[in-house]
Amino acid sequence: MTFLGKVIHVSVDLVLVSTCLAGIKRNTGLAFKLETIENQTARDYSRRYLKMGESVYDYSVASCGSSSYFERK
Ligand SMILES: *[C@@H]1O[C@H](CO)[C@@H](O)[C@H](O)[C@H]1NC(C)=O
Repeated sequence: MTFLGKVIHVSVDLVLVSTCLAGIKRNTGLAFKLETIENQTARDYSRRYLKMGESVYDYSVASCGSSSYFERK
């Protein structure tokens, strides 16, 4: 695999993990405790990372909601 291919693969995985965490947060209210990260810089990046996951999650929910392939149960 090329280097770029690897980068894309890792990025997609990171987005999926973040989206999964967002889904858990929305469904159970359980969110990753950002206070456990002591380093300010790392905490900021983690917050951004989790926010991105929530955006992807919201976008997916909106797309599924307006798709005729999905129904509400
Ligand atoms: C956080 O970690 C980064 C990378 O290890 C370091 O450059 C930075 O100075 C640290 N920031 C704080 C506030 O400790």
